[in-house]
Amino acid sequence: MTEEVHKGKIELSINGKQYNLEIRPWSTLLDVLRDQLNLTGTKKGCDHGQCGACTVLIEGKAINSCLALANMQQGKEITTIEGLEKNGDLHPVQRDFIEKDAFQCGYCTSGQILSMVGLMNMEKGNSPEEIRDLMSGNICRCGAYSNIYKVAEKLILKNKGDE
Ligand code: FES
Ligand code: FES
Repeated sequence: MTEEVHKGKIELSINGKQYNLEIRPWSTLLDVLRDQLNLTGTKKGCDHGQCGACTVLIEGKAINSCLALANMQQGKEITTIEGLEKNGDLHPVQRDFIEKDAFQCGYCTSGQILSMVGLMNMEKGNSPEEIRDLMSGNICRCGAYSNIYKVAEKLILKNKGDE
Protein backbone atom coordinates (compact mmCIF):
# COMPACT_ATOMS: atom_id res chain seq x y z
CA MET A 1 0.00 0.00 0.00
CA THR A 2 1.48 3.36 -0.95
CA GLU A 3 1.51 6.42 1.28
CA GLU A 4 -0.83 8.19 -1.17
CA VAL A 5 -3.61 5.73 -0.30
CA HIS A 6 -3.62 7.05 3.26
CA LYS A 7 -4.21 10.68 2.30
CA GLY A 8 -7.57 12.31 2.98
CA LYS A 9 -9.09 15.64 1.96
CA ILE A 10 -9.59 18.32 4.56
CA GLU A 11 -10.43 22.02 4.61
CA LEU A 12 -8.66 24.32 7.03
CA SER A 13 -9.33 27.97 7.79
CA ILE A 14 -6.02 29.71 8.44
CA ASN A 15 -5.52 33.44 8.88
CA GLY A 16 -8.93 34.06 7.31
CA LYS A 17 -8.29 31.96 4.19
CA GLN A 18 -9.70 28.56 3.29
CA TYR A 19 -7.28 25.83 2.23
CA ASN A 20 -8.29 22.52 0.64
CA LEU A 21 -5.60 19.99 1.39
CA GLU A 22 -4.78 16.33 1.07
CA ILE A 23 -3.08 15.10 4.19
CA ARG A 24 -2.19 11.88 5.94
CA PRO A 25 -4.44 11.27 8.96
CA TRP A 26 -1.49 11.42 11.32
CA SER A 27 -0.14 14.77 10.03
CA THR A 28 0.26 17.35 12.75
CA LEU A 29 -0.97 20.88 12.24
CA LEU A 30 2.65 22.03 12.58
CA ASP A 31 3.82 19.85 9.68
CA VAL A 32 0.91 20.88 7.47
CA LEU A 33 1.55 24.58 8.15
CA ARG A 34 5.26 24.36 7.48
CA ASP A 35 5.58 21.65 4.84
CA GLN A 36 2.39 21.99 2.83
CA LEU A 37 1.50 25.66 3.22
CA ASN A 38 4.96 27.14 3.62
CA LEU A 39 3.81 29.06 6.71
CA THR A 40 7.23 28.69 8.27
CA GLY A 41 6.82 31.43 10.88
CA THR A 42 5.55 28.61 13.11
CA LYS A 43 8.70 26.89 14.32
CA LYS A 44 9.50 23.28 15.12
CA GLY A 45 11.63 22.99 18.22
CA CYS A 46 11.13 19.79 20.21
CA ASP A 47 8.14 18.36 18.26
CA HIS A 48 7.02 16.91 21.60
CA GLY A 49 5.01 19.66 23.31
CA GLN A 50 7.85 20.86 25.47
CA CYS A 51 9.19 24.12 24.00
CA GLY A 52 6.27 26.21 22.71
CA ALA A 53 8.04 27.21 19.47
CA CYS A 54 5.11 25.79 17.48
CA THR A 55 2.38 27.79 19.27
CA VAL A 56 -0.58 28.89 17.15
CA LEU A 57 -4.07 30.10 18.04
CA ILE A 58 -7.12 27.91 17.56
CA GLU A 59 -10.28 29.96 18.04
CA GLY A 60 -8.10 32.53 19.79
CA LYS A 61 -6.59 30.04 22.26
CA ALA A 62 -2.89 29.16 22.22
CA ILE A 63 -2.02 25.52 21.53
CA ASN A 64 1.08 23.54 20.59
CA SER A 65 0.60 22.72 16.91
CA CYS A 66 3.08 19.82 17.14
CA LEU A 67 0.57 18.01 19.37
CA ALA A 68 -2.54 18.82 17.30
CA LEU A 69 -3.70 16.60 14.46
CA ALA A 70 -4.47 18.74 11.43
CA ASN A 71 -7.62 16.82 10.58
CA MET A 72 -9.10 17.68 14.00
CA GLN A 73 -8.92 21.43 13.22
CA GLN A 74 -11.55 21.53 10.49
CA GLY A 75 -14.21 24.17 11.07
CA LYS A 76 -11.99 26.10 13.50
CA GLU A 77 -10.19 29.37 12.86
CA ILE A 78 -6.44 28.94 13.02
CA THR A 79 -4.15 31.94 13.42
CA THR A 80 -0.42 31.79 12.83
CA ILE A 81 2.17 34.54 13.22
CA GLU A 82 1.66 35.41 9.54
CA GLY A 83 -1.98 36.27 10.26
CA LEU A 84 -1.54 38.55 13.27
CA GLU A 85 -1.02 41.82 11.43
CA LYS A 86 -4.10 43.62 10.18
CA ASN A 87 -4.01 45.74 7.01
CA GLY A 88 -0.26 46.08 7.25
CA ASP A 89 -0.26 47.04 10.93
CA LEU A 90 1.59 44.78 13.34
CA HIS A 91 -0.30 43.47 16.36
CA PRO A 92 0.58 45.45 19.54
CA VAL A 93 2.47 42.41 20.90
CA GLN A 94 4.59 42.27 17.73
CA ARG A 95 5.25 46.01 17.94
CA ASP A 96 6.32 45.79 21.58
CA PHE A 97 8.61 42.83 20.92
CA ILE A 98 10.48 45.02 18.45
CA GLU A 99 10.36 48.13 20.63
CA LYS A 100 11.56 46.33 23.77
CA ASP A 101 14.11 44.18 21.92
CA ALA A 102 12.49 41.03 23.30
CA PHE A 103 14.35 38.50 21.17
CA GLN A 104 17.80 37.41 20.11
CA CYS A 105 17.86 34.60 17.51
CA GLY A 106 14.06 34.84 17.12
CA TYR A 107 13.40 31.10 16.98
CA CYS A 108 11.01 31.13 19.95
CA THR A 109 9.53 34.54 19.12
CA SER A 110 6.43 33.65 17.13
CA GLY A 111 5.46 31.12 19.80
CA GLN A 112 6.04 33.64 22.58
CA ILE A 113 3.97 36.27 20.76
CA LEU A 114 1.07 33.93 20.06
CA SER A 115 1.03 32.65 23.65
CA MET A 116 0.79 36.25 24.85
CA VAL A 117 -1.99 37.04 22.41
CA GLY A 118 -3.76 33.87 23.60
CA LEU A 119 -3.55 35.03 27.21
CA MET A 120 -4.91 38.45 26.23
CA ASN A 121 -7.78 36.81 24.33
CA MET A 122 -8.63 34.60 27.31
CA GLU A 123 -8.15 37.51 29.76
CA LYS A 124 -5.70 35.40 31.75
CA GLY A 125 -2.71 36.55 33.80
CA ASN A 126 -3.49 38.60 36.90
CA SER A 127 0.03 39.31 38.11
CA PRO A 128 3.62 39.19 36.83
CA GLU A 129 4.07 35.84 38.64
CA GLU A 130 0.96 34.35 37.08
CA ILE A 131 1.98 35.58 33.64
CA ARG A 132 5.39 33.91 34.01
CA ASP A 133 3.70 30.72 35.10
CA LEU A 134 1.26 30.78 32.18
CA MET A 135 4.08 31.54 29.73
CA SER A 136 6.38 28.86 31.16
CA GLY A 137 5.63 26.48 28.29
CA ASN A 138 7.46 28.84 25.91
CA ILE A 139 11.16 28.22 26.25
CA CYS A 140 13.73 30.77 25.06
CA ARG A 141 17.09 29.14 24.45
CA CYS A 142 18.71 32.59 24.21
CA GLY A 143 17.43 33.57 27.64
CA ALA A 144 15.66 36.73 26.44
CA TYR A 145 13.05 36.29 29.18
CA SER A 146 13.61 39.61 30.89
CA ASN A 147 12.39 41.69 27.95
CA ILE A 148 9.82 39.09 26.88
CA TYR A 149 8.18 39.36 30.31
CA LYS A 150 8.37 43.17 30.20
CA VAL A 151 6.21 43.05 27.07
CA ALA A 152 3.87 40.45 28.58
CA GLU A 153 3.40 42.32 31.84
CA LYS A 154 2.80 45.66 30.15
CA LEU A 155 0.28 44.40 27.62
CA ILE A 156 -1.53 41.70 29.59
CA LEU A 157 -1.95 43.74 32.76
CA LYS A 158 -2.94 46.84 30.75
CA ASN A 159 -5.38 44.75 28.76
CA LYS A 160 -7.01 43.73 32.02
CA GLY A 161 -7.14 47.33 33.23
CA ASP A 162 -4.76 46.58 36.11
CA GLU A 163 -2.14 49.11 35.07
S1 FES B 1 7.74 22.08 18.73
FE1 FES B 1 5.82 21.98 19.65
S2 FES B 1 6.19 22.33 21.74
FE2 FES B 1 8.18 22.20 20.86
S1 FES C 1 15.28 34.49 21.09
FE1 FES C 1 16.48 32.73 20.63
S2 FES C 1 15.33 31.10 21.46
FE2 FES C 1 14.32 32.87 22.16
